[in-house]
Amino acid sequence: MSQEKRKELLDKAYQSIAEKKDKVENDYYRLQYHVMPPAGWLNDPNGFIQFDGVYHLFYQFHPWAPESGLKYWGHYTSQNLVNWEEQPIALTPSKWYETHGCYSGSAVDDDGVLTLMYTGNVKDDGVRSSYQCLVTSADGINFKKSEGNPVIDKQPEGYTAHFRDPKVWKKDGTWYLVIGAQTVAEEGRVLLYKSANLKEWDLIGEVVGSNLNGLDNFGYMWECPDLFTLGEKEVLIVLPQGLEAQGDLYNNIYQAGYLVGELDYETGEFNHGEFIELDRGFDFYAAQTTLDQQGRRIMIAWMGMPEEDEKYAERENGWIHAMTLPRVLELREDNKLIQKPVPELKQLRQEKIDYKKVKIKDEELELDQICGDVVELIAEFEIEDASEFGIKVRCAQDGSEETVIKYDTNNQKLSLNRNKSGRGESGIRRCLLESDSMVKLHLFIDTSSLELFANEGEEVFSSRLYPSKESQGIKFFAQDGQVTLKKVTKWNLE
Ligand code: FRU
Repeated sequence: MSQEKRKELLDKAYQSIAEKKDKVENDYYRLQYHVMPPAGWLNDPNGFIQFDGVYHLFYQFHPWAPESGLKYWGHYTSQNLVNWEEQPIALTPSKWYETHGCYSGSAVDDDGVLTLMYTGNVKDDGVRSSYQCLVTSADGINFKKSEGNPVIDKQPEGYTAHFRDPKVWKKDGTWYLVIGAQTVAEEGRVLLYKSANLKEWDLIGEVVGSNLNGLDNFGYMWECPDLFTLGEKEVLIVLPQGLEAQGDLYNNIYQAGYLVGELDYETGEFNHGEFIELDRGFDFYAAQTTLDQQGRRIMIAWMGMPEEDEKYAERENGWIHAMTLPRVLELREDNKLIQKPVPELKQLRQEKIDYKKVKIKDEELELDQICGDVVELIAEFEIEDASEFGIKVRCAQDGSEETVIKYDTNNQKLSLNRNKSGRGESGIRRCLLESDSMVKLHLFIDTSSLELFANEGEEVFSSRLYPSKESQGIKFFAQDGQVTLKKVTKWNLE
């Protein structure tokens, strides 16, 4: 029965993808070096792992249409985190415990067996049930759901069926998982479980949540937790839903951020510091990390937001959403997470152009050959007496389009302004970036995206943009005084 269902759903998926192929391939907004769905809808990265030397990245996939619907798991593999190869659909929602989707989850290497754990989502007459399920693969391509599914068949007493997104890891011979949850009083939670064999799981307790440990009114649901050790500390990445905007903070519909502290594996208690946003705007959610074989903690996220489909112009062309670039995480002394684009991305660099010691004073300056729509740009500014300075990218010749990255020296705020970025959502996002002498801006521009790493990954902005194809100008500017561009380097990426 479920075999027939599976075949029917898979046929429908591949047929839908094939029907959209021409439209998708001819879309200018199709990104050149980011992971996207072949057609249809993508959201969370799932099951990110380096297994037998190969990186696997699965994702929440609705192949029928560029809208959120029945979720499958799509699958890409990569040798280098740069070039991704599309693989057959890994999970199809064909069993009774996943009739409304194979929701998010994670991957582990269980003694040489690639093993996935995910949430089976069911909505019968509008009533939700969440089942935690296991899948294994002998070859890394074909997946078999465990006969014993679901391995966790219900949320614990006191919680609602918003119970999903298991992230599994092993420590000292024991398996652990964190999972997103909601109390019956509608407070977001992260719960910790343990297991000797991945099949039988015991609840340890609550790790953290809204109205616990100083996080007052911190959301009605917490999605996609990811807990890992970095240096001497534990980091918990989580997505609280239901925070109110506070000035520059929490301006997305839902938030993605992290807490740093120490986990008590016996009780589940997590003694942590403040919640810090992972990204400053506009399109970033559902980050997932993995520890790769070089010992690096690598994070990738969905470069999009839920429930705001109309902001993403590519949906007219049969697809929607993409992943961010993979980033290496480091923890600074003061518990700030630092994000750096993986060095493998340097393989994309072509045709280097650079300039040194360019003074910019009360002007907007273009530099010969510094322009483009698929480029990497690094600009190091020495702060002098200008009150504002920065870079404009994706500029139209007639001034009608530009995306502005600006540093304001008076309040030490860095901003990204999409008010003239073309189609899509407009607005300005800002964050504090303390600096008296230097500001280094590292940009990755793709046909419809911009990722900005400021001061070596201290702050990051990830954003989709929809300017017209012709808007490829790059301008450097300073107002009310001078800055020196100590060095600027640009590569075309291919
Ligand atoms: C986060 C999320 C997860 C869920 C998945 C469904 O974006 O809502 O909590 O598992 O997406 O696609």
